[in-house]
Amino acid sequence: MKVYRFGIIGCGLMGREFGSAVARWCHLTGLEFRPEIVAVCDANPAMMGWFQDSFASVAQATTDYHEVLANPAVDCIYCAVPHNLHEQFYCDIVRAGKHLLGEKPFGIDLAANAAINACLAEHPEVFVRCSSEFPFFPPMQRLGRMIEERAFGQVIEVNSGFLHSSDLNPMKTINWKRMIAVNGEYGCLGDLGMHPCHMPFKAGWYPRNVRAILSNIVTERPDKSGAMVPCETWDNGTLLCEAADPETGDVFPLTIKTQRIAPGETDTWYFEVKGTRGCGRWSSTNPRRIEVLSYTPGGDQAWQQIDMGWEASFPGITGGIFEFGFTDCIQQMWAAFLHELHHGQPKSRFAACVTPAEVAYTHRLFTAALRSQAHATTEPV
Ligand SMILES: NC(=O)c1ccc[n+]([C@@H]2O[C@H](COP(=O)([O-])OP(=O)(O)OC[C@H]3O[C@@H](n4cnc5c(N)ncnc54)[C@H](O)[C@@H]3O)[C@@H](O)[C@H]2O)c1
Repeated sequence: MKVYRFGIIGCGLMGREFGSAVARWCHLTGLEFRPEIVAVCDANPAMMGWFQDSFASVAQATTDYHEVLANPAVDCIYCAVPHNLHEQFYCDIVRAGKHLLGEKPFGIDLAANAAINACLAEHPEVFVRCSSEFPFFPPMQRLGRMIEERAFGQVIEVNSGFLHSSDLNPMKTINWKRMIAVNGEYGCLGDLGMHPCHMPFKAGWYPRNVRAILSNIVTERPDKSGAMVPCETWDNGTLLCEAADPETGDVFPLTIKTQRIAPGETDTWYFEVKGTRGCGRWSSTNPRRIEVLSYTPGGDQAWQQIDMGWEASFPGITGGIFEFGFTDCIQQMWAAFLHELHHGQPKSRFAACVTPAEVAYTHRLFTAALRSQAHATTEPV
């Protein structure tokens, strides 16, 4: 059993999800590798206590990430810090020779992402991927296999999105994800956009151009003291893109929605493909249900609903009759990261983390979307 020793930089919401996935690694079966958390770092010392209490393996806890990078006992880093820190932190991690799973958007803007990619080009020995767990739900894996088998025929349209609703409350306290200086000009696109791009990009469906409509619906929010302050980030983004099937060249509409103010939606990921021979769709609103329509010319056009059990890409102890959830999805993403690091290739096309090249394309898309919004034009990507 090969042990990959991890340092975590950023012990907030996502850092803890990784911790939980590591703590129950024995849930997965048949793997030749496992992660171990040996170091943690957070600017706020209080954030590290949970890790120190929960993991006997943590030998280093520091507020200075340079100390983690200087630690020879650390092989890999999970970095989950605010977007304005990505460029500096990710470049330093790569220069220190540590493998990296970095959080999206992988740079606050196009220039920051380009700087990270320049660093990666100088260090090809370092394995780097971007976090995005959406495709690891079993119905999404099945949709991925249908794409590979070309079960949809000619693609008619593809819709992918990520919707939240808690920002509908105008009295929700502002946090860094709602501040341009920390979150970035992309607003909801930078925060949420990687997820709905993940499946289309793995399918090879890259937007050629985009017409974006971005909205800032709640323009001020209370800060921690209760004083109202400007909230300038985009709340919602709808992108209408033209994409093409790389095998046939057929062009079709691809919509990508990222919304923080979608009434009634709590962490709703959805993905839908409509084609001439078949259709398929899934939404995390009902995470085990996949809907498929198979069409033969002149035959019925009937949607089937299939409730899938725990049919994960990386097998585990959970019986196939039980449900799969978000924390499983995070753990599957980590298994995919380590599988690719360990074996030099992903387990399958859709059981793979986002590559730096795929991330770079999201930055081209989101930058084009900002231009589109500013000029009310369709912009090339
Ligand atoms: N994959 C996903 O589903 C998902 C979900 C939420 C957030 N994210 C991404 O994860 C990243 C972090 O988001 P989060 O929700 O965990 O944020 P968070 O605010 O909960 O955690 C960020 C942590 O970074 C720490 N930090 C800030 N400055 C630091 C510094 N100089 N050195 C060390 N630590 C520092 C903060 O103290 C905080 O604990 C972002 O890139 C975000 O886009 C991904």
